[in-house]
Amino acid sequence: MISESKQLKINFTSENLFRIVASNYNRFTEYENYYSTEDTKNWYSEWDFKNYNPNIYSHGFHQYPAKFIPQLARKILRVFTDENSVVLDNFSGSGTTLIECLLLNRKKVIGIELNPFACFMAKVKTTPIEPNKLREYFLEIAYNYADKNIVYDEQVFYNINFWFKKETITQLSKLKSMILKIEDENIKNFFLLSLSEVIRRVSLTNHSGFKLCRDKNKITEDFNPNVLEEFRKVSSRNINLMSQFFDKVKNSKTEIKIIEGDSRIKQEIEDNSIDFILTSPPYGDSRTTVAYGQFSRLSWQWINNNNKIYSLDEELLGGKNNVDFNNEIIEYSPILKEQLEEIKTKCTKRAKDVLSFYIDLYKTLKNAHDYLKSDKYFVLVTGNRTVKNVFLRTDIIISELSATLGFKTEKILYRNIINKRMPAKNSPTNEKGVLCDTILKENIIFLRKL
Ligand SMILES: C[S@@+](CC[C@H](N)C(=O)[O-])C[C@H]1O[C@@H](n2cnc3c(N)ncnc32)[C@H](O)[C@@H]1O
Repeated sequence: MISESKQLKINFTSENLFRIVASNYNRFTEYENYYSTEDTKNWYSEWDFKNYNPNIYSHGFHQYPAKFIPQLARKILRVFTDENSVVLDNFSGSGTTLIECLLLNRKKVIGIELNPFACFMAKVKTTPIEPNKLREYFLEIAYNYADKNIVYDEQVFYNINFWFKKETITQLSKLKSMILKIEDENIKNFFLLSLSEVIRRVSLTNHSGFKLCRDKNKITEDFNPNVLEEFRKVSSRNINLMSQFFDKVKNSKTEIKIIEGDSRIKQEIEDNSIDFILTSPPYGDSRTTVAYGQFSRLSWQWINNNNKIYSLDEELLGGKNNVDFNNEIIEYSPILKEQLEEIKTKCTKRAKDVLSFYIDLYKTLKNAHDYLKSDKYFVLVTGNRTVKNVFLRTDIIISELSATLGFKTEKILYRNIINKRMPAKNSPTNEKGVLCDTILKENIIFLRKL
């Protein structure tokens, strides 16, 4: 149970924060095509972004689980940063914060991300390319693909025949070989990312969740996808998105650095050098929340032939649960202590899973604190999830843990998740058949380094 005073403590309104911040940052005048005139009326209180298209610019190139709504990232970046800001996203995923910094022409943005496929995606999505060049290359790929005598390497990796039909493997292999002939690295990567989206469409997988599983309905003779046709659709959509993106960022001077690394470990970022951090850590460990590794596995095997992606989910936050209950962070957060006790009475192993996640998260908070300049803000978008029927207050746990590091929680806002891609149901007890709604609200936590 959470005491009433704790609940009251977080009962702010969004208007209050933005009144305070707006008095310091007086630049709410540009809305571009993110905000129509109608929208601006609600700008101060709008956090759900129900009627907004998240797939604008390069944001729409490829799916990724639990992506930021670009409009949400943009709104926060507008408030807390300016053209001279150095921004960090220490769980940068598919690169939403990076793209938004580029669109806003911020001085520098750094992303830290452990998933190599997500880093690849972020790189492609932040590399503007002249769209007409892409159109020419697309025609060349399609022309070469039609050649009956083309020489190509048939793709092989463990269990490939389980996930793809034989004919699909042949078509994908041909297409990949044609893309690999492109010498320009950026153009090649652009089409490899389009190929990845095609791989998802033509595989035998079921896309209702983020765990890899086969779709029974596709293992029939009727499922015979046309790879080139799918590639045409995805490439044409992505080239149009690139066209909008290219126009906006061709003069942008933003320096972008993507570190493929672990946020728990200190990276090559100087202490006290960052003006603002915006991030969205995982909501829990990959086993029981979003399996980023499983989501990325087939794409990365096709693009990179790298089997290391198999163990990725264990490497992510909370992936290893060999922890003991004497860990110091339990004393830093009374809510965590109380909630862990409750879960422990039901299942010690699950309590360890939960503790392991928060121990890892604490390490990342500590590093973020070191990187950030004093008096600057750190904004986290997270979700409270249910484990063994205990509704874990990640919002308050973060607030309590970060206080011990020298952060002050200025505010916590709550938003409804309308269009984030998440499975609609999960299993809070891990019992077969017992499902409940997954996280339907997100917390936006505003911390300030004292
Ligand atoms: C909620 S997603 C971030 C999505 C991102 N905001 C976007 O718009 O695409 C969380 C990300 O954290 C990454 N991650 C998990 N553990 C990590 C760690 N220890 N170090 C760096 N990244 C990690 C996951 O791979 C995942 O991409």
